[in-house]
Amino acid sequence: MNPSRPITAVGLVSLVALLAFGLTPRAAEVPALGEAFRDHFLVGAALNRSHVTGTGGRRSAEQVTGEIALVKRHFNQVTAENDMKWQLIHPREGQDGYDFAGADALVAFAQSNRMEIVGHTLVWHSQTPNWVFAGTNPPPPGATNPPPAVVAGNTNGPGTNRFGRGGFGPGFGRYNGPRASRDELLQRMRDHIHTVVGRYKGKVKVWDVVNEALADGGPENVMRNSLWSEIIGPDFIAKAFQYAHEADPEAILRYNDYGLENPVKIQKLVTLIRSLQEQKVPIHAIGTQAHLNVSSAGFEQMDRSLTEIAKLGLPIHVTELDINSAQGGQRNTGADIAANATTTQGGLVSDADKKLADAYAGVFRAFLKHRDQVKMVTLWGVNDAVSWRAGGKPLLFDGGNQPKPAFDAVIAETGKAATTR
Ligand code: XIL
Repeated sequence: MNPSRPITAVGLVSLVALLAFGLTPRAAEVPALGEAFRDHFLVGAALNRSHVTGTGGRRSAEQVTGEIALVKRHFNQVTAENDMKWQLIHPREGQDGYDFAGADALVAFAQSNRMEIVGHTLVWHSQTPNWVFAGTNPPPPGATNPPPAVVAGNTNGPGTNRFGRGGFGPGFGRYNGPRASRDELLQRMRDHIHTVVGRYKGKVKVWDVVNEALADGGPENVMRNSLWSEIIGPDFIAKAFQYAHEADPEAILRYNDYGLENPVKIQKLVTLIRSLQEQKVPIHAIGTQAHLNVSSAGFEQMDRSLTEIAKLGLPIHVTELDINSAQGGQRNTGADIAANATTTQGGLVSDADKKLADAYAGVFRAFLKHRDQVKMVTLWGVNDAVSWRAGGKPLLFDGGNQPKPAFDAVIAETGKAATTR
């Protein structure tokens, strides 16, 4: 709405309706993100339990109402921030061990608001309970199970300590007991994938099948060491995709990882995906998380990354976009959740609003340049207050749901789209 123009009756009615549902004046006036990019790609957000059930947790009813109004207005795609992870959807062994409450609520919310749903995530080394890996086989000598993770309390979702003490409790990559055999673990993986993907068949259109299987660090190690890779072997990835494809042959199956701004990690991605493609594994899209920082994020970094990823010939989804403005997070684009607390320490960088706006403008310019490949851009959270990196104020809306200068900068890029190729 242009403030210099007289407001029409229809405009007035919709503004009143938006205000009634909790959107602050400016938030109700600015263009809607999903609309602004409609011709190019979907724009989504990760939602937590409060958003899809409409109930509190740590946020007041008023805050939650405002966030829901924001989601409905701006996003046409949603991902569960936590509720489809193994730890939450399948906390105990067996067919009775599932808890679909959060995931069902997300699916119902998205369907009633005509939003595309992404399922996140089927196989990951984090947020997976111990029982999945437990069995009767002693761990092999020299097994390199990741060291215990220290995770700061989760600030998202209803209530605290949903993952137990320290954020995730037992089962967060720290299982050191006797192990399942390869066949047992494959069987558990198959049951899990068939049950979860099968339940939402035709509703969840895109799945993150395997999350973060690539190693960080130098080029010598391509694959991350995890209980999945140690117990099953490197073909755990191919198997997971195969099971997901059996469960829903129509679903778009995604490989998702972070740090794909780093040329070394991109080469690992290329090695992995080419090998899967040679084996005819059903993999249909690449998810690049894009947990960025204001010091390095911008057009050049994103353009370089997307150019390399695009060589794989698959659609690209930007799956977890946020741009950290805290001093503690300026050195890398890692997203190891065990190290997350340190990334938002030290207060904001100087001139944070301006740097964030420039960075967001740059990355969206790159998304638009690569719009033939980029099909979806998901922000990792609704606003700064509910972000997993709240201290780094990394999103487009502030904690009071006001659009930030970065929001305006992103919208401004749509006007330049025709000239960016
Ligand atoms: C994060 C969530 O945002 C937090 O609420 C949770 O405490 C930890 O996990 N990469 C991923 C996401 O694939 O699932 C992670 O989400 C962030 C890093």
